[in-house]
Amino acid sequence: MRRRPGARRAALSLLLAAAALSAGCSERAAAPSVEAFLERHWAEPLPPQGPPPAGFSALEASLSPKSCGQCHAQQYEAWRTSLHSRTVGPGLLWQLALMDQAQANRCFRCHAPLAEQKALLAIEHGWQVAPPLPPPGYVDPGLGHEGLVCAACHVRGHRRFGPPARPGAEPGTAHGGFTASKAFEDSRFCAHCHQFPPDGPSVAGKLFEDTWNQWSASPMAPERTCQSCHMPGRQHSWRGIHDPETTRSALDLGLEVVALGGDRYEARARVRNVGAGHHFPTYMVPKVELDFVRRDADGSTRTLGRQVIGWTVDTQLTRELADTRIPAGESRDFAVRFPAPRAAGWKVELLVRVKPGEHYERMFREHLARDAQLPSQAVSHLRQALADVLSAEYDLARVVAAPPAAAPIAN
Ligand code: HEC
Ligand code: HEC
Ligand code: HEC
Ligand code: HEC
Ligand code: HEC
Repeated sequence: MRRRPGARRAALSLLLAAAALSAGCSERAAAPSVEAFLERHWAEPLPPQGPPPAGFSALEASLSPKSCGQCHAQQYEAWRTSLHSRTVGPGLLWQLALMDQAQANRCFRCHAPLAEQKALLAIEHGWQVAPPLPPPGYVDPGLGHEGLVCAACHVRGHRRFGPPARPGAEPGTAHGGFTASKAFEDSRFCAHCHQFPPDGPSVAGKLFEDTWNQWSASPMAPERTCQSCHMPGRQHSWRGIHDPETTRSALDLGLEVVALGGDRYEARARVRNVGAGHHFPTYMVPKVELDFVRRDADGSTRTLGRQVIGWTVDTQLTRELADTRIPAGESRDFAVRFPAPRAAGWKVELLVRVKPGEHYERMFREHLARDAQLPSQAVSHLRQALADVLSAEYDLARVVAAPPAAAPIAN
């Protein structure tokens, strides 16, 4: 790990001058520990980049992901398909229409972290501390809506930061090289946005976002980092519960029909979290529905019941309704009881359906029901947000089990 000595201080720019005041930035000669690096790298609020170094071409100075993509095509193509490129979507935008700048900046910490993005969004919303001048040339006017951009993770004061170069990689001269830090290979890098602090919002004593803690208490830690699962081979697509393949890799599913005596049976699904390095699922937002259906010999079906995997909280975020998440490496049984039909030859089917945005679906519907109280701009974003959440649902698996061959005779 090397750091370039004497790197420039982030210059005070007209962009969000207030933000820069709190972001002192001093240089030390030795490479800092991962912890010290991250504390500075993610110091809130991120200071503006300031003027680019004199030798930079317009392409090297640009903060736009498309510009990075001119030279880093692989990362750009992957990032574009990821949810990190959509963190300023309709689900956030309808809420911004109801917020003041201070409230919105709290969301931007994770959803649009660059000072330059906050400045553009402030201009757009007519907030008070909007910069008086148009953005400088290295800030694309669309940057505010591009979400978690490359520069938010990799660029500070126009300097590039990244993981240690791959063995044998040619040191490039573009953008003045880069500063390597092992922090990029560490799960703590992701914690800035995927872990709330101990005093963060919680319900029933559980933090809304607790992914890093779940991970560090899991048998996966410390070897399997967040990056090893979500960025294999340093790939930038961050697949998670929105992706059927990734979700399938988390689960080992078993289904068994157990005779209880008489005509009573129990269908028992055993779900083991074998592949997620945190609870399955980690947050309150996604739900996985387990629908049990009896298919009789004549082909007719009968619904036996539904069980849900997930952490269900009311839309006011004040009350826990259920928590059936499965910690990493553990399993949980979900069962329904039912009577058997007279005719033999019946089976039980388990249909597994994933709703990656279930909590938001409930919340968006409640707000739409009161849409007369919302500005029209918010309503159109809200409708789109609900449509997006619904279109993200998918069927994950279908498992079939027959009753035990010789059911024990009840006595
Ligand atoms: C003119 C071409 C060019 C542009 C534009 C460019 N880069 Fe680079 N970048 C390079 C080259 C060449 C290297 C060194 C070789 C390598 O590691 O890919 C490099 C290295 C890096 C590294 C270090 C990789 C490592 O091994 O850790 C990061 C991170 C990085 N660039 C990020 C960015 C980001 C973010 C942007 C846009 C804001 C950007 N670059 C724009 C050419 C470019
Ligand atoms: C959420 C933060 C984040 C965003 C956004 C992000 N990166 Fe990265 N990037 C990382 C991390 C973390 C690594 C190191 C992963 C590892 O070592 O397993 C990395 C590695 C890299 C590398 C080194 C790749 C290699 O194969 O050695 C380059 C180059 C890079 N990123 C460029 C980009 C570009 C270009 C974009 C935008 C299109 C981008 N990154 C967006 C976090 C990010
Ligand atoms: C500490 C980081 C953090 C902060 C602060 C934060 N979020 Fe998020 N947000 C996330 C993460 C991580 C996810 C992904 C959660 C998931 O996949 O279940 C997310 C997801 C969302 C989504 C669903 C995805 C989408 O784009 O539709 C919405 C809506 C959202 N956040 C709104 C907000 C709002 C509004 C605020 C401010 C009041 C806010 N967030 C503050 C980290 C944060
Ligand atoms: C052993 C592999 C593995 C590790 C390690 C891992 N994840 Fe995951 N992650 C998964 C899989 C598989 C899923 C999809 C199933 C699910 O949602 O639990 C997932 C889902 C997610 C989701 C989607 C939202 C949700 O509610 O589940 C987020 C966000 C996430 N991971 C972040 C992280 C972060 C941050 C870390 C590190 C602290 C991490 N993951 C560590 C495998 C892993
Ligand atoms: C600057 C904040 C920030 C950082 C840093 C960050 N994320 Fe995220 N991440 C988000 C937000 C916000 C979302 C929600 C996107 C959405 O749904 O609109 C998200 C979504 C995700 C998802 C969503 C998958 C799904 O299907 O729901 C995964 C996986 C993920 N991040 C993994 C990571 C990993 C791994 C790292 C570290 C290398 C990381 N993130 C770093 C803010 C961040």
